Amino acid sequence: MNDLASIAWAEVADLLDLQLSPLGLRAIEALSPRTGDSVLDVGCGAGQTVLQLADRVGPGGRVTGVDLAPRLLEVARRRTVGHSQTDFIECDALTLALPEHSIDCVFSRFGVMAFRDSIAAFSNFRRMLKPTGRLAFVCWRSLDENELDYLPLRAAGLEARVDLTPFSFADSGDIRTVLEAAGFRDGVAEAHDEMVSSGDMDAMTAVLLKVGALGRIIRENPEMRAAAESRLRAALAERRDPAAVALNAATWIVTARR
Ligand SMILES: C[S@@+](CC[C@H](N)C(=O)[O-])C[C@H]1O[C@@H](n2cnc3c(N)ncnc32)[C@H](O)[C@@H]1O
Repeated sequence: MNDLASIAWAEVADLLDLQLSPLGLRAIEALSPRTGDSVLDVGCGAGQTVLQLADRVGPGGRVTGVDLAPRLLEVARRRTVGHSQTDFIECDALTLALPEHSIDCVFSRFGVMAFRDSIAAFSNFRRMLKPTGRLAFVCWRSLDENELDYLPLRAAGLEARVDLTPFSFADSGDIRTVLEAAGFRDGVAEAHDEMVSSGDMDAMTAVLLKVGALGRIIRENPEMRAAAESRLRAALAERRDPAAVALNAATWIVTARR
């Protein structure tokens, strides 16, 4: 994540968490962390899931967030003050060097789609997991299935400029291939659709113009913002309930065992 992206994510962290929280919680359910477990949160960003996982493992457990973006880790550290079972490491998860067989669970909310070598990254996660270790993450299905991204893009007329990196695990066959090549067993990708929202029209517009498929284009081309905003607002105004604008998020909830 570059600087522009992490500034944008940090600015809308609270509103974005409203959208993403139900999706992350679904993956946390699938992981089923137990009291006392140690969990690695890959690409933890501003840390909402670190807190959610910390609640699950309790004060006797441990949740370690790893992320490349210092600006987001700063927010995460602020948010987790007083939760002594949490800590953070700033580094590339691919080269994270926790001891072999030292953790119970690996978790991620949208933090595993941009590795330069996915098989190497997942092999590293497997190396750090105990023999009984479990993995669960949530990632996006395809852009075409994700109204949350295609509606803003189409409204702004900017589909052609989209960066497809966040959708790199859209094909569940690719996920299974990576997991198997990394040595994981019983890999399952379950499709999960959910209407998600940051609140009203203003909140949704603020988030969609900063992060996600359209947000990325706008933050890199700020001169496009005004036109995109009015077109996006017009499209959102057509929703059934503009007071609580929700769009469909199409995800995979992925689980596997070491
Ligand atoms: C889409 S954001 C999700 C952040 C957070 N999990 C959330 O749901 O709010 C992806 C995060 O993964 C981090 N990330 C991407 N590649 C990474 C890598 N190789 N190692 C560590 N963090 C990475 C980014 O810096 C970013 O914070």
